[in-house]
Amino acid sequence: MKLSLWLKTGGISARELAAEINTTEATISRLKNGHALPSMEMAGKIAEATGGAVTANDFLDLGPDSASIPGGGLDSARVLLIISGGIAAYKSLDLIRRLKERNCTLHVILTRAAEEFVTPLSVGALTGAAPHTDLFDARTEFDVGHIRLARESDLIIVAPATADLMAKMANGHADDLATAVLLATSTPVLLAPAMNPHMWSHPSTRRNVAQLKADGISVIGPNEGEMAEAGESGVGRMAEVPEILNALENVLGKAGAKPLEGQHVIVTSGPTHEPIDPVRYIANRSSGKQGHAIAAAAARAGARVTLVTGPVGIADPAGVDVIHVEAAAEMLKAVEGALPADIAIFAAAVADWRMAQLADQKLKKKPGATEMTLDLVQNPDILKLVSRGHKRPPLVVGFAAETQNVVENAKAKRRAKGCDWIVANDVAHERGVMGGEKNAVHLVMEQDIEDWPEMTKEQVAEMLIERVASAFSPAKASA
Ligand SMILES: Cc1cc2nc3c(=O)[nH]c(=O)nc-3n(C[C@H](O)[C@H](O)[C@H](O)COP(=O)(O)O)c2cc1C
Repeated sequence: MKLSLWLKTGGISARELAAEINTTEATISRLKNGHALPSMEMAGKIAEATGGAVTANDFLDLGPDSASIPGGGLDSARVLLIISGGIAAYKSLDLIRRLKERNCTLHVILTRAAEEFVTPLSVGALTGAAPHTDLFDARTEFDVGHIRLARESDLIIVAPATADLMAKMANGHADDLATAVLLATSTPVLLAPAMNPHMWSHPSTRRNVAQLKADGISVIGPNEGEMAEAGESGVGRMAEVPEILNALENVLGKAGAKPLEGQHVIVTSGPTHEPIDPVRYIANRSSGKQGHAIAAAAARAGARVTLVTGPVGIADPAGVDVIHVEAAAEMLKAVEGALPADIAIFAAAVADWRMAQLADQKLKKKPGATEMTLDLVQNPDILKLVSRGHKRPPLVVGFAAETQNVVENAKAKRRAKGCDWIVANDVAHERGVMGGEKNAVHLVMEQDIEDWPEMTKEQVAEMLIERVASAFSPAKASA
């Protein structure tokens, strides 16, 4: 049974339960509202106090719709959504639903072009109020409503953000309601660009996006993939709704404590691509979803985060410094360049091997030969080098992707590498972890091993960062 239901049916307050299990009322409220996951110890205490009615799994069962969708930290936020005239505007209807589920107070502005893609009627039906469309609207402008809209929001999200709207923003235009509000605001702004890949890579758009970032505006995406237009693919697809929610949380600086404030966290993520010749490479199935979720969770916890990522098809998390690399050697260089750090979490699936000799021309089939041998040499072991290096962060966490004897192998890896913790996951193909949405991990520490139930990668990230925050003490950092 859900904790909220158990409290309600028993007429028990969060404060009473907190007193019984020796924790704070705020902790119980966060657990009750689904804004945090309990530690194993806490889940055990709650199970005991509730006579087994509320177990650890009851905190993970978020229902089919929202199971993999983050955004709890947005609860009751005042959000202004600006929809501009791109084909991805239809996705914003889903974003509205998700924001409403999180009790956000929502105002929506549609640009003139956006009305060609979604109707004010469908937006109004979802939000329960007519969207704003006109700068010179006599019903709202009697008290300069566009300035009020700008002021009375905790954050502004533009999704989709067209090339045109970003060009106007970068140059300070204010000739319609959307651009006037964006120019009149000091509220944090997040853009989710979406456009044809040629528009995205055009030097004008590159310049405008760089200017907007320099102006302090956050950008999520776009992603690489299929475009809505038939036969088009490349970078330009709007970030998915869960990614936007995650980014909004980061931009808002998730409500509540910032346990990692002032700490620098390095996270690695994704696969590496080890070139064979100019057109081929050795890769693996890592999607980067887990590492990126960890970087986003650390940023929400207040840390300054450097994410070093191999090639992935997902959006950079907002509010995080991202360094894109291809091969293991580059990843090591980027990590070393990002040191010193207080915490390092190595979630990337770094290739163990690379070519002994990189071919500078495409390798050709040899006439008559039916076999081909590649000479490989070992890649640098980033986890080991950093764990045993002179700039070792006070807390180093490695990941072990295993297909058998998961915990035993992880224990051996922790000792061999010299890191503090290993997050071990079973990536046997049938479990669908590589590239999938869920993960079941074991946290292997020096004295203890925790077996976490299966949960989404966002939930694993939240729980890991909670553990990091409670284990990490600044005193250790200065030791
Ligand atoms: C069918 C169609 C699809 C479009 N899709 C996009 C898009 O995905 N991204 C974009 O930047 N512009 C797109 N445009 C162009 C914009 O609609 C156009 O630049 C418009 O002036 C944008 O106005 P706004 O920025 O005020 O919303 C599209 C135009 C059409 C006709």
